[in-house]
Amino acid sequence: MTTDKQEITARAHTNIALVKYWGKKDDNLIIPQTDSISLTLADFYTDTTVAFDDQLSADSLKIDNKPIFDKEALKVQKVLDLVRNLAKINTYAKVSSTNHVPMAAGLASSASGFAALTAAASRAAGLDLSDTDLSRLARQGSGSASRSIFGGFVQWHSGNDNETSFATQIDSAQNLDIKVVALIIKKSRKKHSSTQAMRESVETSPYYPVWCQVVAKDLKTITQAIRTHDFDLLGSTSELNAMRMHALTLSSDPAFTYFNGQTIELLEKVKELRADNVNCYATVDAGPNIKVLCQSKDLNQIITVFSQLIGPENVIATEPGSGIRYL
Ligand code: PMV
Repeated sequence: MTTDKQEITARAHTNIALVKYWGKKDDNLIIPQTDSISLTLADFYTDTTVAFDDQLSADSLKIDNKPIFDKEALKVQKVLDLVRNLAKINTYAKVSSTNHVPMAAGLASSASGFAALTAAASRAAGLDLSDTDLSRLARQGSGSASRSIFGGFVQWHSGNDNETSFATQIDSAQNLDIKVVALIIKKSRKKHSSTQAMRESVETSPYYPVWCQVVAKDLKTITQAIRTHDFDLLGSTSELNAMRMHALTLSSDPAFTYFNGQTIELLEKVKELRADNVNCYATVDAGPNIKVLCQSKDLNQIITVFSQLIGPENVIATEPGSGIRYL
């Protein structure tokens, strides 16, 4: 069967996890060990254009104008194949993606990338999927992408199979004053893939079973903080959750950490600011960069302090963002 060459562009935003996803129970379907909760961010996003074209003899895949190969290409093809299966087509696709996110530096370009790819590809293939279906599909490209389909505060329900593992919006984040300041320490690609590091944590960290208990408790606390607009409860719970996630890589065999020296120094600075009554909290994903959670009243001071330390070009403030949209 052939398809027309309808070209569709979708935009999806990255998200930062407040209760982290760290560990899969099914590597192929990407079913996580636990639920997670994130906040979608306004200023970091990916635009992806997809067109299925029966003139093509292979998928043509570009990110930021450069062809992609190997592992990266295989993951994109996996999602395209899922879409082709659903749409009952076997046409190859031209995919072109532009990141407005420093790639693979723990700022989750994979989350926005796979969410945008899923949305653009499914619509270009003529499918009209629900957000829940898009979340299930995006999940199979990159777990955290399941959450980037939605805006605001989002929960990814771990589930047990493809059907039951998807994200939903908890709250639009319109009624809680929250800002996020990204501190970019390193823009280069991370050395340890999150997939590999998660597997090592699940299989070798003696703390892994305890982590699952920590998450169960933090999910309840963060949900309550979102409901009651309690910024300090949300921030303090997120920071501790992030530190406990990073304790998993430090307690894996072989042990390692995503932190570098500057990560530690800047985490200390966040604590110092807090001691000076600046309400801010830090979170760190699979890379050395830090995201500082704060409120409007403290935003300028936080930007000034960190700009002096790492340069204003490495301090990017943002706020809650929206779910996917088509351009
Ligand atoms: O979706 P992945 O494979 O990029 O893993 C994301 C893992 C963390 O960012 C560290 C945590 C999370 O929940 O996003």
